[in-house]
Amino acid sequence: MATFFTLLACSFLAVATAGSFYQDFDITWGDKRANILNNGQLLTLSLDRVSGSGFQSKHEYLFGKIDMQLKLVAGNSAGTVTAYYLSSQGPTHDEIDFEFLGNLSGDPYTLHTNVFSQGKGNREQQFRLWFNPTKDFHTYSILWNPKHIIFSVDGIPIRDFKNFESGGVAFPKNQPMRIYSSLWDAEDWATRGGLVKTDWNKAPFTASYRNFTADACVWSSGASSCRSEKLKTRSSSNAAWLNQELDLTSQERMKWVQKNYMIYNYCTDLKRFPQGLPPECSIA
Ligand SMILES: *[C@@H]1O[C@H](CO)[C@@H](O)[C@H](O)[C@H]1NC(C)=O
Ligand SMILES: *[C@@H]1O[C@H](CO)[C@@H](O)[C@H](O)[C@H]1NC(C)=O
Repeated sequence: MATFFTLLACSFLAVATAGSFYQDFDITWGDKRANILNNGQLLTLSLDRVSGSGFQSKHEYLFGKIDMQLKLVAGNSAGTVTAYYLSSQGPTHDEIDFEFLGNLSGDPYTLHTNVFSQGKGNREQQFRLWFNPTKDFHTYSILWNPKHIIFSVDGIPIRDFKNFESGGVAFPKNQPMRIYSSLWDAEDWATRGGLVKTDWNKAPFTASYRNFTADACVWSSGASSCRSEKLKTRSSSNAAWLNQELDLTSQERMKWVQKNYMIYNYCTDLKRFPQGLPPECSIA
């Protein structure tokens, strides 16, 4: 609770900075397989038989509206996984995940999402996309505030994980998280449950990132301050996102996605939860 009050007490002066991947991220593994290019405006990860690669944000955040544009591994990407997520540290960590599971050329990617709170996950929802995510950059966003975690794709909400502490479900709100991304091989399970293996003749596999934008509360030495970071300066904004929720139009759009593009929902998986669905499913 303390952190939340600290946060409310801080002033929401949004500072627009002209940043770059150099400024906001560190490449953490994969040697030369991860590269920052174009003056810090583009980041690429690659995967070959020897290793994948990854990066993480320099800052930790406690709440934010975080956008990134990704272009996924093209062609035969079966067996590859591009993970893009927020996570805190430790055994009772919180985590908010986007994972993109590759596929054979022409077969659709699976967008996998999950939310962990206090170390507990098992809240998977999976989607198809309504476009080819390897042709162009598309925007994948996480809005994380004290009441909601909203996943969006090109501004269209696909999932709204609501704070249901009143129903006894822990909600991520006390542990600052970093942004992480990695490209790695998961041929044992990623594509059609491991039936389709990675075609190493097509390596290296490459995913690209650009236009990182965060209106977020940056955590530093135990305190949080909200500001805006982005590759390109845009007019400064207030912290409206801290109280944001889906309006009726957005809820309708989310319903459209869930009706037409959702391929797995833990909240309807009675086989998996024979003792009863998780409590938050009652309000989903
Ligand atoms: C790959 O394509 C097949 C055939 O359309 C589909 O069943 C599968 O769910 C797709 N995605 C993954 C990650 O396997
Ligand atoms: C960069 O991201 C911001 C925030 O998501 C968006 O408004 C802007 O249109 C993006 N720029 C490009 C070139 O896509």
